[in-house]
Amino acid sequence: MASITPHASAAAPAHSQWSSRMGFILAATGSAVGLGNIWKFPYMVGQSGGAAFVLVYLVCIAMIGLPILVAEWLLGRRGQENPINTMAGLAAANRKSRHWALVGVSGVAAAFLILSFYSVIGGWALAYIADAAGGSFGGLDSDAAGALFNGLLASPATLLAWHSAFTLFTVAVVAMGVSGGIERASKLLMPALGVLLLVMVGYGMTTAGFGSAVDYLFNPDWSKLDGAVVLAALGHAFFTLSLGMGIMMAYGSYLGQEVNLLRSARTVVIFDTVFALTAGLAIFPVVFANGLDPASGPGLIFVTLPLAFGNLAGGQILGVMFFLLLTFAALTSAISLLEPLVALTEERTPLGRVAATAVAGLATWALGIAALLSFNVWSDVLFFGLNVFDLLDKLTSKFLLPLTGLGAIVFVAWCLERNSVRNELGLGALGFGVWNVVARYVAPAGVLVVFVSSL
Ligand code: PHE
Repeated sequence: MASITPHASAAAPAHSQWSSRMGFILAATGSAVGLGNIWKFPYMVGQSGGAAFVLVYLVCIAMIGLPILVAEWLLGRRGQENPINTMAGLAAANRKSRHWALVGVSGVAAAFLILSFYSVIGGWALAYIADAAGGSFGGLDSDAAGALFNGLLASPATLLAWHSAFTLFTVAVVAMGVSGGIERASKLLMPALGVLLLVMVGYGMTTAGFGSAVDYLFNPDWSKLDGAVVLAALGHAFFTLSLGMGIMMAYGSYLGQEVNLLRSARTVVIFDTVFALTAGLAIFPVVFANGLDPASGPGLIFVTLPLAFGNLAGGQILGVMFFLLLTFAALTSAISLLEPLVALTEERTPLGRVAATAVAGLATWALGIAALLSFNVWSDVLFFGLNVFDLLDKLTSKFLLPLTGLGAIVFVAWCLERNSVRNELGLGALGFGVWNVVARYVAPAGVLVVFVSSL
């Protein structure tokens, strides 16, 4: 991470630090805002029936996601090491079982599994840059938009080419250690993505579907709510905030004592949530105006947005820009997913940085091939009724991430010395009382209840 200036401060003798609070917030936001917000959130809303999911998701973000984000940063800042060593070291220092290191291990495993299918979707975004540039969106109707997307899914060779390209970009950035430049670029490019999403919301307002979309997103039909919907919302809260992967823990390890964790977490969470809701407002008007199925799944934005661009003055150039920026947002997240794998490989093997990045990248690339084949030739290869892509997605979001996050918050709330945590969070008696209730009971119980009830 090049934005971390390697000056050895008194607080962290052996470990470099973020050059500024701003750099830290940017990196954390860059990791959080990605395909999860723009690609995954809308289609999950659609599959779960709308506003009831959205509201449960918002509650999960506030009551579970935010405290766990703070917990991961706090652990990282204390441990000053990679997630596995951090957990092992803190457990030893607090005379707890060394098995707490498993929290770090499962986080790194989750990052590996997620990156494999994440770069397949990053590849879709790349493919759509080319399609938009080639004018494929002009005058599309909904059938043609569907056909364009299904054509992509049906071709393993095309999917492989774009998946490989996306993996290669990610590997190149991480291997060269130029992610600092990427973070600086994101100061400009992420707001640009936000503006383009707003343009699409503006377009949505001109369609007949806008009223239905607002209603669908914010007016809950509670009969749509069941255990599966709640688990999906919880899992997505982890995914979208990059929790339960040791990523935020690693970022915390570069954090100076002066940074206020709660305030920083609030900032990141607000950015992340605004991006997701805006994406929803951009996509669902198009869905309803064109009579598309909101529950159609992972292809949702790749069918709806081309329709919108095809009907918009300047849609060709806007389309290119949009998918370019989406790819960039995906890249900043993918970098954060690859980093922990590389750090671990570098530390535990004799490999140098470039070789370690190549090995880690190659491994996720290979698993990604299994994921992309599940859209075509392996669509019948099922494990527990799921194809490889769904299996990787569900196994991580609904299983590994919540459990790892649970481990992080339970450790902070129950195993660390209370006063030190209170000082570190800079809370008064009342504030800390609230923190304690949430961190000790509400968040862990929330994860457990959702989890157990879904088994
Ligand atoms: N949070 C990212 C997103 O919403 C995805 C991600 C998950 C990134 C896990 C890093 C780690 O797109």
